[in-house]
Amino acid sequence: MEWQELKGTKILDAQDPDRAGAAVREAAAILREGGLVAFPTETVYGLGAAAGNSAAVHKIFAAKQRPPDNPLIVHLTSMEQVRELTLALPPAAYLLAERFWPGPLTLVLPKNATLPAVTTAGLPSVAVRIPAHPLALALLKEAALPVAAPSANLSGSPSPTTAAHVLADLAGRIDAVLDGGSCPVGVESTVVSLLGPKPAILRPGGVTLEMLRGVLGEELVDLTADRGDFTGTPPAPGMKYRHYAPRAPLYLVEAGRKQGKRLEALLQDLLARGKRPGLLLTRETLQARPGLKAFPLEILASRRDPAAAARELYGALRRLDDSPVDVIVAEGFKERQIGRALMNRLRKAADLIFAENGRD
Ligand code: TXA
Ligand code: MG
Repeated sequence: MEWQELKGTKILDAQDPDRAGAAVREAAAILREGGLVAFPTETVYGLGAAAGNSAAVHKIFAAKQRPPDNPLIVHLTSMEQVRELTLALPPAAYLLAERFWPGPLTLVLPKNATLPAVTTAGLPSVAVRIPAHPLALALLKEAALPVAAPSANLSGSPSPTTAAHVLADLAGRIDAVLDGGSCPVGVESTVVSLLGPKPAILRPGGVTLEMLRGVLGEELVDLTADRGDFTGTPPAPGMKYRHYAPRAPLYLVEAGRKQGKRLEALLQDLLARGKRPGLLLTRETLQARPGLKAFPLEILASRRDPAAAARELYGALRRLDDSPVDVIVAEGFKERQIGRALMNRLRKAADLIFAENGRD
């Protein structure tokens, strides 16, 4: 089958049902030969390589320019595969797997000696997940290998939710992208560590705190820090890096009383200083302040629909970055359900946060 290419990166179109089977087979063959393939998951696109092939995994770190101390998530299709890579599993692993897999949940578990050190950045633990996206599952089954896959972006830039985002960052640096259209969740998986005495959330994501509490009750510890400014060793190595960030500085106006007034004051101040702001707003704010339509603008769904906002977030940040703006001003959401993951990503991307009690 002939495939389009961009700078030597094959574009394996799996959106066309007539070509999807061939696209998956080609992608699987590349993984088996030790190559790099970006593929869609329900959260974001992953950059896959055979998790047991250390040379292939090294190529992931090089292509993404990822710090070598940040371990990868290993993508699997079954509990049998999970058991092959780990030591004895705690009961919580079975409870969570039963309820949330396949799906946007990653579990950190004690690893055995099967995987090379590079995949887990030398840690004695491994992060595993069974994704729900049909193309991800088809690819993993066809390749019949554990597949290590971080998000398929350049390290530090917003995660990709379309094949076009992947190509914008990685064309010419990877062998292929399996194009399955846009990702339905839009933010990364929830990372839960089962290494300690109690299950602990290391990164909020597609499976919400509320959903996890439904299974684990008050046992669950939330180690999610808003800013990721850790001293010492953070529980998830990824937590210490500035993340998900567009090139333009991002100013975040948190939810709360007088959010609209704080937003307007900030815009006035930016304009007075000759800056060109681009806006990331909810439908409600735009309805209340139609004058804001004069700015470059991305609408992030309704305030009442954080799931839609999560789906749109990374694409909207990339589009604003591609327009002539000096600064991105984003409106904050309430922290409930997937709004927690959304706010975690916005705060990590933010250069300045305007909270209810002024700047902080
Ligand atoms: O939704 C997702 O999780 C996507 C898709 C492709 O599956 N993947 C993803 O991978 O977001 P990445 O590499 O961008 O984020 C992985 C996170 C990082 O914060 C990393 O530090 C953490 O998981 N992690 C991986 N292995 C770990 C371990 N052994 N212990 C603690 N944290 C770990
Ligand atoms: Mg990432």
